[in-house]
Amino acid sequence: MIVLGIETSCDETAAAVLKADGTVLSNVVLSQLDEHRPYGGVVPEIAARSHLDHIDDLVRQAMTDAGVSYDDLDAVAATSGPGLIGGVIVGVMTAKAIASAAGKPFVAVNHLEGHALTARLTEQVEFPYLLLLVSGGHCQLLSVEGVGRYTLYGRTVDDAVGEAFDKTAKMLGLPYPGGPNVEIAARSGDASRFKLPRPMVGRPDCDFSFSGLKTAVRQIIQKLPEGMPNEQERADICAAFQEAVGDVLADRCSRAMKRFAEEHGTGHTLVVGGGVAANVHIRGVLTETCKKAGMQFAAPPINLCTDNAAMIAWAGLERLRLGLTDTLEFAPRPRWPLDSMTIPSA
Ligand code: KG4
Ligand code: ZN
Repeated sequence: MIVLGIETSCDETAAAVLKADGTVLSNVVLSQLDEHRPYGGVVPEIAARSHLDHIDDLVRQAMTDAGVSYDDLDAVAATSGPGLIGGVIVGVMTAKAIASAAGKPFVAVNHLEGHALTARLTEQVEFPYLLLLVSGGHCQLLSVEGVGRYTLYGRTVDDAVGEAFDKTAKMLGLPYPGGPNVEIAARSGDASRFKLPRPMVGRPDCDFSFSGLKTAVRQIIQKLPEGMPNEQERADICAAFQEAVGDVLADRCSRAMKRFAEEHGTGHTLVVGGGVAANVHIRGVLTETCKKAGMQFAAPPINLCTDNAAMIAWAGLERLRLGLTDTLEFAPRPRWPLDSMTIPSA
């Protein structure tokens, strides 16, 4: 089986072709970063237009790189939500047009399911597993019991982790996207110089909150003599922020691990997905947390943690294997919580 996947839900236009055994025949990603950078964040209108300008060429490139024709495909999968709706519509319409012209099934993929199932492509992780999804738009802990079968353990009550990284970077005058720049600055920083809170730590549930952390960073900056950090202060704040986020994630994951063990027993895996999973400090913290809890740890390679179409093609393959295809009537969804997915009978 061969599937073409398309991803357009945020600021990456991406197309990939995958085989059912997990061979990535092609995987092309075009970042719109330069177009959004002047605004310090993703502008939905610009994103939608840019997806429209590039999607045809990108799909053509993915097909050429893979060395396959539309006839060779078994399905066309596209991110059909959640995300910036203008972009999602561009991807869905493109996928439906190809599916319709080539006479192939269309698979509507939930972007979060793409992140959730990536570890099965890269590390062959078996169900069930615990998933920490940390990206620019999402921060959730879920138990993944099968394709389309998710139980939400906890989620952020305000900002997503990536969003907190991006906002902190902006306050510190670091360029967008903030996450990677905060991580680089933190390398030369002293995490103990500034004290930051650990929101939600110790609570019995598995929820997150990051807005207090962001406010604390703002207050530190305002109290600085210059009202703006110098290079060393900036590095120290980044290190303190990254450490605080790591501590919060470790505590929330420990809670979720207890619940997961009660429901599914021991010896399972914690999978981390989403753009923030690229952070080396956070990976280290989670590796330690897993060791303490006796769980395996799996983190997909960084280029498959951030938004890409290989994960969409893979989720499409997982669905296709179970006979879960969609009709061309499927309407793109700006909101589409993972735990609301229909549970396949297989
Ligand atoms: O999954 P993703 O590519 O897109 C969304 O679906 O949101 O995640 C992007 C987010 C951004 O907020 C970015 O700042 C963050 O992931 N990010 C990082 C790192 N690399 C990307 N955050 C912390 N450390 C990083 N190295
Ligand atoms: Zn994403």
